[in-house]
Amino acid sequence: MPLILAEHLTKTFDAAGHDGSPVTAVRDVDLSIDAGEFVAITGASGSGKSTILHMLGGITRPTSGRVMLEGVDLAKLDDDALALVRRRRIGFIFQRYNLLPELSLLENVALPLVFDGMKESACHKAAMEAIESVGLAPRASHRPDALSGGEQQRAAIARALVTSPAVVLADEPTGALDTVNSRHVIDLLSCLVKDRGQTVVLVTHDPATAAAAGRLIRVIDGRIASDTLVGDADERAAASPARTVVR
Ligand SMILES: Nc1ncnc2c1ncn2[C@@H]1O[C@H](COP(=O)(O)OP(=O)(O)OP(=O)(O)O)[C@@H](O)[C@H]1O
Ligand SMILES: [Mg+2]
Repeated sequence: MPLILAEHLTKTFDAAGHDGSPVTAVRDVDLSIDAGEFVAITGASGSGKSTILHMLGGITRPTSGRVMLEGVDLAKLDDDALALVRRRRIGFIFQRYNLLPELSLLENVALPLVFDGMKESACHKAAMEAIESVGLAPRASHRPDALSGGEQQRAAIARALVTSPAVVLADEPTGALDTVNSRHVIDLLSCLVKDRGQTVVLVTHDPATAAAAGRLIRVIDGRIASDTLVGDADERAAASPARTVVR
């Protein structure tokens, strides 16, 4: 069973065009992602990458089609059940970091666990571990506006990791970062896949970030234009059958 199975995913936003006409951001996307994969989604601005990621993560409900996560059809879940799956099984790193400005870094990272009813001391311990894993321990008591862009990005990653989710969905996690910070984030996400067996699906414009992934999906105009296994020859040989599909 794939970890994520998306079938005929389509998303139309009502009255979003300049003339008030609906905009179809994603058209009939089929996608199957196995546990332990590291997938990069690329494509031009406005091609529908974020919308696909949001649907995979249960943040946006598709207009038609469905997303199965670990065999569960997200459309069949009510809002509470969906919120629970999102909180426990999915770590979402947003294109804009979505850190709460009035909370410290530690409190921001602990938030998913607080919502889950975990005791404060346990929340803080787990949050501190996640913060340490992204190299921000000395900044734990700072508020987001006292952090640099790169640090805020790493804070958003720590918050996504704190629940040890099955899948990490990351929207342009290196988009606002310099080369050094980008490398740090790429290494961190690669480690999740290699060392912890987690699944990472990220959206990126950056060739260096895409190159770290084992599979590259190109989106053009709301559709998957190509879906290719990449990486070194050993990895390709080990991954069978080859999944190179160019439509
Ligand atoms: N909430 C929304 N309401 C209306 N239209 C939307 C909404 N979200 C996205 N769109 C439209 O859907 C299309 C795809 O948007 P999306 O954000 O998925 O693109 P993207 O590939 O992530 O772009 P970028 O690289 O700039 O982040 C765009 O035309 C966008 O204007
Ligand atoms: Mg986007």
